[in-house]
Amino acid sequence: MSRFFLTAICLWLLIGCHHVSHSENSVKSISEFALIPKVNQIEDASGSLQIRAKLDFNWKTNQNEDLKNRITQQWQQIITDQGTDDASTLLEIIIDTTLDLKSEESYHLEIHEHGITISALSDEGVYRAWQTLRQMLYLKGEHSIGCGLIIDFPKYSYRGAMLDVARHFFSVDEVKRYINQLAFYKINYFHMHLSDDQGWRIHIDRWPLLTEIGGTSQVDGGEAGFYTQDEYQDIVQYAAERFITVVPEIDVPGHTNAALASYAELNCDNKKRDRYYGREVGFSTLCVDKEITYQFVEDVIREISQITPGPYFHIGGDETHATPEEDYIQFINRVIPLVGKYGKKVIGWDEINLGELPPDAVVQYWANTENAVNGVQKGAKVLMSPASYAYLDMKYDSLTPIGYHWAGYIDTQRAYSWTPETLVEGVEKENIIGIEAPLWGETITNSDDIEYLAFPRLLGYAEIGWSERGDSRTWDEYKKDLAIHGKLFEKLGIHFYRDPKVNWLTASD
Ligand code: ACM
Repeated sequence: MSRFFLTAICLWLLIGCHHVSHSENSVKSISEFALIPKVNQIEDASGSLQIRAKLDFNWKTNQNEDLKNRITQQWQQIITDQGTDDASTLLEIIIDTTLDLKSEESYHLEIHEHGITISALSDEGVYRAWQTLRQMLYLKGEHSIGCGLIIDFPKYSYRGAMLDVARHFFSVDEVKRYINQLAFYKINYFHMHLSDDQGWRIHIDRWPLLTEIGGTSQVDGGEAGFYTQDEYQDIVQYAAERFITVVPEIDVPGHTNAALASYAELNCDNKKRDRYYGREVGFSTLCVDKEITYQFVEDVIREISQITPGPYFHIGGDETHATPEEDYIQFINRVIPLVGKYGKKVIGWDEINLGELPPDAVVQYWANTENAVNGVQKGAKVLMSPASYAYLDMKYDSLTPIGYHWAGYIDTQRAYSWTPETLVEGVEKENIIGIEAPLWGETITNSDDIEYLAFPRLLGYAEIGWSERGDSRTWDEYKKDLAIHGKLFEKLGIHFYRDPKVNWLTASD
């Protein structure tokens, strides 16, 4: 037990939370809340705190006006009942870099008779704590919350979600809507798959035809699109305000038909390809023998890296069936150092294990265990996205109207029932940076579709990535918590799949 924890417990016993509300029997104690991801330590105390619509801050140091305003606004969206008097709830924020906490995301959240105290090393920890508190406010039922202390920290530092905006284009607003939903479940990385055979989705100043031509196609046609660099930065900023880091992906050397349709010189035969509206994969490749190819890739990496504050750049590298292996290795061995040159760490799908990997490289395991193990043996870290457990575009079952099933059906129970550090022999906990749930876009066209495939499975991934429950984590326990989030999905307007294995509660329950 940490010294800070002991001090916190003593203080809290001393100050007391002994005020006993007249309605205590109906007040939820904090350990009863269906918090997802499950918090790591929780202790109930006697007494309760009245929750008021009016919020008073006591922000001890480094007050973040933007975060304060957003907390206030969200608080008032949830707590609408003003009550009969003018009382308020006190929210005390203590940011102290000397606290004995495990990471910037760790926090203590205390409910005591005088108010609520959040302690963290930085705004990021405050933000994660706020998501816990937000869930409690939504789920509390009565006007009070039982007293107690939560000590929470993430198991893995990378808990991601990927959205494929290339197969179908999603507007800035649709992307922000998803980011906002991710934040509520403490997801902290948002990977954007920005280019593929069917579309190129980010403007590149030095190569404007990429979006003029490559931005106009998508699966099955219809109105496609792309992000200007300002729009991309707007998304990055929106995510950063929610303490989510954007990871841009430009998939090379395969999955490049949209680029090959935009510029003849990227093709070995100097002939532009036709735009592509189908769903097949593995037929396209950049011309690895041409210098112009590397100038192109470098320009793209430079321009995107300059407007991406996060540490990673994802080079794709998957399913390069049209690139002979020798050529593939030659290509990625030239491209990986370009990522470093512009100050980023490289991530690639597990196929990149064939290249020379710098020590800070990340291999994203999706299909081939040998690739992941080989990456580890070369000193890389692994990001766990096993297709048969973590691909959000897999159907729940044979009746699911959208999605694929090449990696099997993944119902909500299966999505929850795996452990990153025991899945692949030779990939141990210390090799893993975290987990990511990719959502490929061939079959989805709008926010309803995104939400239907992501919710409720995403909550399971959020919990696997965050909670240290280890072997004690069971589906039977989790599905009771998940059922209660049906209420939240309704309140938040999330269009989710009502998996029949879960006894969903509704907003009126
Ligand atoms: C992939 O699903 N091709 C990474």
